[in-house]
Amino acid sequence: MKILGIETSCDETAAAVVEDGHRLLSSTVASSMDLHALYGGVVPEIAARSHIEYIIPMIRQALSEAQEEWADIDAIAVTYGAGLGGSLLIGVLAARTLAIVKRKPLYAVNHVEGHVYANFLTDTALPGYTLPDSQPRFPLLALIVSGGHSQLVLFRDHFDYTLLGQTQDDAIGEAFDKVAKIIGLPYPGGPSISKAAIIGNDKKYSLPKANMSGRYDFSFSGLKTAVLRLAQREAGVGFEFPSRELSARLSDSVKADIAASFERIAIQTVVDKTVMAYDEFSPADVVIAGGVAANSVLREQLSSRLPCPIKYTDPKLCTDNGAMIATLGCFKFGARQEAADAYTLNIAPDLSM
Ligand code: KG4
Ligand code: ZN
Repeated sequence: MKILGIETSCDETAAAVVEDGHRLLSSTVASSMDLHALYGGVVPEIAARSHIEYIIPMIRQALSEAQEEWADIDAIAVTYGAGLGGSLLIGVLAARTLAIVKRKPLYAVNHVEGHVYANFLTDTALPGYTLPDSQPRFPLLALIVSGGHSQLVLFRDHFDYTLLGQTQDDAIGEAFDKVAKIIGLPYPGGPSISKAAIIGNDKKYSLPKANMSGRYDFSFSGLKTAVLRLAQREAGVGFEFPSRELSARLSDSVKADIAASFERIAIQTVVDKTVMAYDEFSPADVVIAGGVAANSVLREQLSSRLPCPIKYTDPKLCTDNGAMIATLGCFKFGARQEAADAYTLNIAPDLSM
């Protein structure tokens, strides 16, 4: 069974072909990140325009890299939510059109659920991928941490899951992006904070960890504001000082200490809740998914605090990609789930798990 996956929920235009829910045959990604870097965050209109430009080339490239013809593709899977409306629309309309013209079943995939399924890919002939050597087992505890989501989910089986908790404000990746902007590091903030933090002292500043009423919920907006106040204090300016001029007044060593102190606390916030959920539910496996799963402090902190090895995949499959969508599409197809109507499938920007 071979599924073509299409993903356009944010600023990556991505397509991939996956076989039998475990073998990666191709994965192509065009990112408009460089354009958004000029503004310090994703500009929805620019992302949507860029998807229009890249969607057909990415699908063509995914098929040719996989050495597959349309006749060999069993179904198409596409992200229909959550995400930016204009971005989702391009992927969904492309998938709907192809499903009709090529006469293929169409599966509508939840982007956040898709992130978890990147961890089910265990083999590929493509160079440059390090994949887990076995698929995760159920019950499965999944920590999904990205620019748009921070969620802790317990999967009892495929398609049978409970959302244990989620962020009540900013997503953790968004907090990395905003803190990077405050201290003048380039977008996307996650990798730049991690890089700056290497030479920083992660205990230099004590920053607050939010205490939420929901047992497994997260919050990052207070931490972000605390970093802003800290940066103002270190720069010797007041609350009213323009924040875009703040970073010019901070030395590289202060920036590194702020980056390291922030990274330690932000990661500890999600690790604390994951450990609590592990103790309560005793899952067979724990996976981390989403762009922030590429963070090495997260991998180290979780590994040292859990009694079992954690599962994660290649960093290229942690950030948005078509392979995770195709993989979940394989399981939907394999379970004979009802396909979506290619004439009417709509986007769902606020889709939750
Ligand atoms: O999953 P993703 O590509 O897009 C969403 O669905 O949001 O995640 C992108 C997010 C960005 O906020 C980026 O700053 C963050 O993942 N990120 C990281 C790292 N690499 C990417 N955050 C922390 N550490 C990293 N190494
Ligand atoms: Zn994502």
